[in-house]
Amino acid sequence: MQFILLIFCIVALVDCKLKVLRPSQLVDRLGSKVNIALANFGEIPFGHRYMGNVDMAYPNDGCDSLMPTNGSQFIMIERGNCTFVTKVRNAQNAGYTLAIIGNNYDYPLESDFVMADDGHGYAINIPSIFITSQDFNVIKEFVLKYQVSNSLEEQVFVLVKFDVKKRDDVDVILHLEVSNRDSYRVIDEFQEYYDLLKNEKVNYTLLYSIFNSNNTQSDYSIDESNCICQRRYCAMDPDGEGIGTGRNIIEEAIRQTCIFKHFPLQYFQYMNKFNFECSKAQAYSTCGSKIITNLGIQDDEIVKCRDESFKDPFNHKTATNLNNSYNAILEHQLLLQEKSGAIGLPSVVVNSVVYKGQLTGKGIFGEICNSFNLPPSVCREEVENYYKFEINGDGDNYLFLIIFIVSILIAIFMLVLYFLFKKFVQKDSVQVTQVQVNEMISQYIKFYEGKEQKKQNSF
Ligand SMILES: *[C@@H]1O[C@H](CO)[C@@H](O)[C@H](O)[C@H]1NC(C)=O
Ligand SMILES: *[C@@H]1O[C@H](CO)[C@@H](O)[C@H](O)[C@H]1NC(C)=O
Ligand SMILES: *[C@@H]1O[C@H](CO)[C@@H](O)[C@H](O)[C@H]1NC(C)=O
Ligand SMILES: *[C@@H]1O[C@H](CO)[C@@H](O)[C@H](O)[C@H]1NC(C)=O
Ligand SMILES: *[C@@H]1O[C@H](CO)[C@@H](O)[C@H](O)[C@H]1NC(C)=O
Repeated sequence: MQFILLIFCIVALVDCKLKVLRPSQLVDRLGSKVNIALANFGEIPFGHRYMGNVDMAYPNDGCDSLMPTNGSQFIMIERGNCTFVTKVRNAQNAGYTLAIIGNNYDYPLESDFVMADDGHGYAINIPSIFITSQDFNVIKEFVLKYQVSNSLEEQVFVLVKFDVKKRDDVDVILHLEVSNRDSYRVIDEFQEYYDLLKNEKVNYTLLYSIFNSNNTQSDYSIDESNCICQRRYCAMDPDGEGIGTGRNIIEEAIRQTCIFKHFPLQYFQYMNKFNFECSKAQAYSTCGSKIITNLGIQDDEIVKCRDESFKDPFNHKTATNLNNSYNAILEHQLLLQEKSGAIGLPSVVVNSVVYKGQLTGKGIFGEICNSFNLPPSVCREEVENYYKFEINGDGDNYLFLIIFIVSILIAIFMLVLYFLFKKFVQKDSVQVTQVQVNEMISQYIKFYEGKEQKKQNSF
């Protein structure tokens, strides 16, 4: 039985998104798993599994307030007539812990589909998932059947797993944009969790949003003033008609990357001050320099980092002629940007899983914590069944405990043996006569001398 359970767990961990657990006829109809998409609002419990009974919204579109739940955790709502956020908010207000939104027309689930925020998603804290109309209608059929029969055996009970990729070392990509205020909010919120995790194996990469004008040339020609390195790296003009340029943005992106690389703790303070004090792109350079000086960051270190990031395309050494160079920092960021699959800005990618849901410092921390094979103890609150990892993670302590217990048992055993022996000797000695004692002693001496001789021989 345990073996079967174990197999089920492994499959569920790797594969499972939504799995129907009851009733068995529904399991037969849907197969072992149902693919789901997530939303970019709400708090998504990465690495956790939710289990619950399923209700059907009435009316099905869930656009008006819903009846409070009478014990069920999940509710099914059909797409259409209002935004996803409205539906999920109604589900949340009715006391549900998860909303299952079904498509309202037959279409396969695309891997990059995300239920989008309508701008009011910040007030949502329950997660929501999206499934195809086909799956939705099958589940709906069974939920309605249960409503009629009211027999517990027919109640629909499902498991939803919010997957992460687990590794020993966690890779985190923070995808930001220099002139995007939300990027600074996320960095500000994440600071305390960065501090908590600073001794753990987390590999952070900053990724500032830039583009290569070659890719967009077919649409329009971007002004040279928004680019560096002969249009190899460009950023959108931040203020249209104003004097600020994409080049200001790019230069600031290089500087922020360098600060993070060399002074990671001060980076967070820098970002906080920059957000409040530097609003005009054309003044980023002087404004940023002032903050660097005030924070006591060694500016020459940052200047050196920037200068050395420009490379000669032929020998890959530090470039002398900037006109004909590439930038190692930006080149790396461009490459990652293509691969990261991030949606919108800012965004976060943990072990190549794009963070979905409302982007908060705590949310990012939760996803990082759950992406460790063995989460560190600072993650205790974020990880389901944390105690399991504690036993595995502190394996050495566990071993010491075993050795300690075994030693104590041996000590007790020896003590008992000693007392038994003592008792035995006392009992015996009463019967032993002086003659016998003398005989024993002389025998012992003989034996001892013999042993002594043997010892000498062996040399
Ligand atoms: C959407 O609204 C229309 C018109 O009010 C209604 O007929 C339809 O049933 C609604 N859709 C759902 C899924 O409830
Ligand atoms: C709520 O559930 C209880 C039992 O679980 C049932 O007795 C009661 O009738 C239900 N109430 C409604 C309004 O369905
Ligand atoms: C850290 O992550 C980046 C981006 O994912 C990757 O290029 C780099 O090799 C990683 N470094 C380490 C030491 O794993
Ligand atoms: C951009 O296009 C030009 C001409 O097609 C090419 O020489 C150059 O290498 C391209 N740059 C990048 C970064 O792809
Ligand atoms: C770099 O290009 C600018 C104009 O784009 C030019 O004025 C300058 O002389 C060039 N510098 C070198 C070292 O070629």
